[in-house]
Amino acid sequence: MYDWLNALPKAELHLHLEGSLEPELLFALAERNKIALPWNDVEALRSAYAFNNLQEFLDLYYAGANVLRTEQDFYDLTWAYLLKCKAQNVIHSEPFFDPQTHTDRGIPFEVVLRGIKQALVDGEKQLGISHGLILSFLRHLSEEEAFKTLAQATPFRDAFIAVGLDSSEMGHPPRKFQRVFDKARSEGYLTVAHAGEEGPPEYIWEALDLLKIERIDHGVRAIEDERLMQRIIDEQIPLTVCPLSNTKLCVFDDMRQHNILTMLERGVKVTVNSDDPAYFGGYVTENFAALHESLGMTQEQAKRLAQNSLDARLA
Ligand code: ADE
Ligand code: ZN
Repeated sequence: MYDWLNALPKAELHLHLEGSLEPELLFALAERNKIALPWNDVEALRSAYAFNNLQEFLDLYYAGANVLRTEQDFYDLTWAYLLKCKAQNVIHSEPFFDPQTHTDRGIPFEVVLRGIKQALVDGEKQLGISHGLILSFLRHLSEEEAFKTLAQATPFRDAFIAVGLDSSEMGHPPRKFQRVFDKARSEGYLTVAHAGEEGPPEYIWEALDLLKIERIDHGVRAIEDERLMQRIIDEQIPLTVCPLSNTKLCVFDDMRQHNILTMLERGVKVTVNSDDPAYFGGYVTENFAALHESLGMTQEQAKRLAQNSLDARLA
């Protein structure tokens, strides 16, 4: 039905690997690792996917990640995502992973990284999908813990293109991580950050000025600040927008209220991404399809959005 959207070559620039854990794989990994789950079956888990805000989602997302234990688990997770990319003509992906979600449960950093990286390397060779991996810090944790995570990454520096910042936005402004990001940049990492998803435009200013980010993850609340809009237009700072995520987490009440096409027509370098596709009802093509169905996105607009994603690559 959406062959014309699948056919567009696209890059995905905002995807949490842990958020691509489909319920079926989650149950399979729980069985493999002998983990008891609080849900009876896949349907019961899926029916829990109703959220009023970011935090309600995050609570379930971190609970789901508990089934990921071995290098093979991380490989299987990443490989399943890459097969979706292949099916939707996503030719390049820059996924995030949250090492602290796993190291805090006693899973060694290198176990997580080896599984993910091997799948990404195999994806390049076997599926022709290029990548740049982004290490994301959990902003609800401390600066000290982020520094520890950065140190754990040092022996594997070449595995990454950038560091990012995710998790609970409100009350955890970008400035909390200024020194960690300074250190990361001094080691050659590029930087990105979630900002302006639930948080105010001020958080986007901080991410730009203090964390010196190359791209804004989400950033939809930039539209509330005209001076900020002018800056992101003038400097062509990309926004990695996630339409289905934004409606599932009630950032917008309804897809018809989403501002992505308004931003596109104002000259903002917006891109379309899936964020946590297993939880929000679809991968990149489904996000494009939602914009077509609810906002009347044209083929020409879809082409510009896809081209923006290719232009905004870091790797
Ligand atoms: N982690 C996974 N998805 C996220 C999102 N949409 N915002 C912040 N942190 C996240
Ligand atoms: Zn995200």
